[in-house]
Amino acid sequence: MKKIEILPSLLAADYGWLADGILRAEASGADALHIDIMDPSFVPNLSFGPDIVALARRTAPNFYRNVHLMMRRPDLYLEAFAQAGAQTIQIHIEADCDLHTELARIRTLGVKPAIVLNPETPVERLTPYLDAVDEVLVMTVHPGYGGQKFIADCLPKITWLRARRPDLDIMIDGGANAETVVDAFKAGANQFVAGSYLYRQADMKAAVAELRERMAAAV
Ligand code: DX5
Ligand code: ZN
Repeated sequence: MKKIEILPSLLAADYGWLADGILRAEASGADALHIDIMDPSFVPNLSFGPDIVALARRTAPNFYRNVHLMMRRPDLYLEAFAQAGAQTIQIHIEADCDLHTELARIRTLGVKPAIVLNPETPVERLTPYLDAVDEVLVMTVHPGYGGQKFIADCLPKITWLRARRPDLDIMIDGGANAETVVDAFKAGANQFVAGSYLYRQADMKAAVAELRERMAAAV
C-alpha cells in the first residue's frame, strides 16, 4: 500500500503570519506543504506566486513543497516555480498547453510531475498521461477557494484510478476533514490535502495524528 501523506494547504493560513503558518504545518508532523497558485483566467481567484514557494523553502528547507498550479498557462511559469523550490508541480488537465511536453519538462527541471483533474472532468481523460506522472490529484471541490464542501461524487474516480494503477500516488484536495479523508482513503487515495480543517485547529499536530488514526482504523 502507498504511504499515507497529509498536506496542510497554506491557502488557509493567516497571511499576516505566513512563515508561522509554514512552521506550524511542519511541526504538525504533516508530510508536505501544499501551496495553491491561482490564476484568475483559470479559477475565480488569485493567490500566491513563486516568491511564496521561495518563502516556504527559506522558512522550512526540509519540509517538502507540493505546488498546485491552478493556471491556464502553467507552461509559462514552470522554470520560475522550479527555481523557487517546488518539489512536485501539479498541472491541470484542463490547462491550455501541451500536457505531454510540459509534464516531461517538469521532470527535466528535476521536479516531480503531477496531473490534476477538476470535478467535472471525466477520469478516463487521464489515461494518456498516467505513465508520465508520479501523482494524480483528484479535485474534490471546484478549485478557487478553501473551505468548500467535499464533493463525494468524485470518489469513483479514485476507485477507477487505483484499480488501474496500484503504484500511483493519488491525492485529494478540497473539503477534507476527519470523515471525508476516510471515505477518500477507502476509495484508494493515499495523499490528503487539508486547508481550513487543519489550520482552524488549536492543535494541528493532534489533528494530523487523528487523521492518520482514523485511516489506520479503516484498513
Ligand atoms: C482549492 C485549493 C485547495 C484548498 C483546499 O482551490 O486547491 O488546496 O486550499 O481547502 P480546504 O481544505 O479548506 O477545502
Ligand atoms: Zn490545492
